Amino acid sequence: MNQNRQITLLRHVQGNPTPEHFGYVESPIPEPGEGEILIRNLYFSLEPAIRGWLEGKANYFEPIPLNGVVRGPTVGRVIKSNDPAYREGDVIFCMNQWEDYSVCSVESILFEKLNPKEGVPLSYYVGPLGGSGTTAYVGLHEIGHIKAGQTVVVSAAAGATGSMVGQIARMRGCRVIGIVGSDEKANMIVDEFGFDGAVNYNTAGDITAAVMALAPEGVDIYFDNVGGPILNAMLLAMKVQGRIVCCGMISDYNRTENPNPITNLWEVVARQLTLQGFLLFTYHDKVPAAQAQLAEWIAAGDIRVAEHITRGIAKAPQAFCELMSGKTKGKALVEVDLTEEA
Ligand SMILES: NC(=O)c1ccc[n+]([C@@H]2O[C@H](COP(=O)([O-])OP(=O)(O)OC[C@H]3O[C@@H](n4cnc5c(N)ncnc54)[C@H](OP(=O)(O)O)[C@@H]3O)[C@@H](O)[C@H]2O)c1
Repeated sequence: MNQNRQITLLRHVQGNPTPEHFGYVESPIPEPGEGEILIRNLYFSLEPAIRGWLEGKANYFEPIPLNGVVRGPTVGRVIKSNDPAYREGDVIFCMNQWEDYSVCSVESILFEKLNPKEGVPLSYYVGPLGGSGTTAYVGLHEIGHIKAGQTVVVSAAAGATGSMVGQIARMRGCRVIGIVGSDEKANMIVDEFGFDGAVNYNTAGDITAAVMALAPEGVDIYFDNVGGPILNAMLLAMKVQGRIVCCGMISDYNRTENPNPITNLWEVVARQLTLQGFLLFTYHDKVPAAQAQLAEWIAAGDIRVAEHITRGIAKAPQAFCELMSGKTKGKALVEVDLTEEA
């Protein structure tokens, strides 16, 4: 391999992303400068947040420029280092790009040297032991202030973050209900992840009533991954002084019109709710403890891991579009196959 295969942004995305929004180029393998290291990327984390960087507008990160390489969290191995603190073979998690080789440094966003445990697949460090699992853990503990005996509801419950939220809440002694988009996902979260109940928002009709049928006394914590009509419905299912953990609003990410209206906001006052948004990188100091606890639960078989792995860098655009249209279950990621022909 003497070229760096890269996936670029060809056209800004409005509405649903399609593979045609992305390009493919080959360029020389970059050389690390002083204090920098060269990483061979092994896994790309596919995340809905990337959708927000494809529109040409800033949100909490700069937009990816046209013809720029798509940015995303990766796990990779150091193959050349000009920083004495890092050696060839070290495994690094970092906000890199969709390419075979990236140059980064300790100053890069999310940069973390991993200490992979024997027998733990490296792919877990973009999912259950990476941003998905730690977002779930930090959101439930730091924002949700989870306590045993509570009722917890999570949306996008069969996904990377949601499946971890439900399982962590179960481990904390809570009753857990997941909201999902298909019966297949509903069965999966109950049978495989041990949720106490599931609601399919595509067939439930009245989502508030469907949740209240499973939680007649109301909901203590709603972990919101989707916003929109599901958030609106959940405002009517909360207990007094319940907490809504605002993690993401994927139902708005592909909308071309205004965001979905939230008409039940008065319930925040009437029920004295706390709604709090958070971004994982603000809670960076909480990540090591979260990772340690998650690793223990996974090793003990208390938490099940589901991965949706796409093999080959050239398939990253298609895989990302599948994530954004609800076709994946568990953690969506790309394994960068260095031997593959693009
Ligand atoms: N705050 C943070 O720091 C942070 C960190 C990581 C992730 N997040 C957020 O967490 C959420 C989940 O991310 P993830 O990586 O775990 O993705 P994911 O849940 O694995 O995949 C996204 C899922 O969202 C659901 N979905 C898509 N469109 C929807 C719609 N219109 N209405 C309802 N559900 C819809 C689909 O599941 P169904 O088939 O069940 O609809 C889809 O499988 C996203 O909003 C993301 O932005 C936030």
